[in-house]
Amino acid sequence: MIEHILPHSVAVSESFDDVPEPGVLHPEEARLVENAVETRRREFTTARWCARQALTTLGLPAVPILPGRHGAPQWPDGVLGSITHCAGYRAAVVARAPGTVMLGIDAEPDAPLPEGVLEAIALPDEQRLVRKLRDTVPEVHWDRLLFSTKEAVYKSWYPFTGQRLEFEDADISFDLDTRAFTARIRLPYRPPAGGPAIDRLEGRWLASKGLLVTAIAVTSARLSGTGG
Ligand SMILES: CC(C)(COP(=O)(O)OP(=O)(O)OC[C@H]1O[C@@H](n2cnc3c(N)ncnc32)[C@H](O)[C@@H]1OP(=O)(O)O)[C@@H](O)C(=O)NCCC(=O)NCCS
Repeated sequence: MIEHILPHSVAVSESFDDVPEPGVLHPEEARLVENAVETRRREFTTARWCARQALTTLGLPAVPILPGRHGAPQWPDGVLGSITHCAGYRAAVVARAPGTVMLGIDAEPDAPLPEGVLEAIALPDEQRLVRKLRDTVPEVHWDRLLFSTKEAVYKSWYPFTGQRLEFEDADISFDLDTRAFTARIRLPYRPPAGGPAIDRLEGRWLASKGLLVTAIAVTSARLSGTGG
């Protein structure tokens, strides 16, 4: 499913069920979840299985994927990737650098956010947008989709910039025809090597099988075209 919203250069693996656990985790991964609750252990395990499937698709060794700084998964040199899991869905995507420079995915159940969460994660303009979209396209839970886009922004932005964005740092707009979204980043990133500031990310979204899935993949060609 998620391949529909990512370029062909990105290798994807997803699962709607958990894989049988024995033999999946490397010992150093298993240690990380040995005291975790069962749901966490199972999502972690299936996501690692997905990650290795995706690495294998790229022709890379199926290495352990351990958490690095602030939880960001550590990928082999020359590779970047992203992981998501929610009830009924796990996925991992990977791509080769330097062709791809930023990659982030997120999945959420296509259900309303709990009471009060929209107000906590959305800018006033975004809250108005969600209310308008709710009236025009009621089939999609726009509040949850907005949340998911921000999670995808965070996961693509942090490994590249080292900046941990807050929810109010990204201002999201949707294109309904192309199922695209744009995140205007209110804290532009200035690459240390010079070049234009990065202040915008483009992503895509999908509503299917009771899930909302979002993805951002920035190629080096697109990055150099980002102005700001
Ligand atoms: C880290 C975070 C984005 C994860 O999203 P989530 O919807 O809760 O959970 P998901 O299952 O989709 O994703 C979890 C995976 O994200 C990845 N992840 C965690 N921290 C990460 C980081 N700093 N950078 C990139 N990826 C990260 C991990 O692979 C994790 O899975 P794992 O622990 O099994 O390896 C979220 O918990 C969080 O901290 N959000 C607050 C910050 C934020 O979103 N700001 C919005 C900015 S616009």
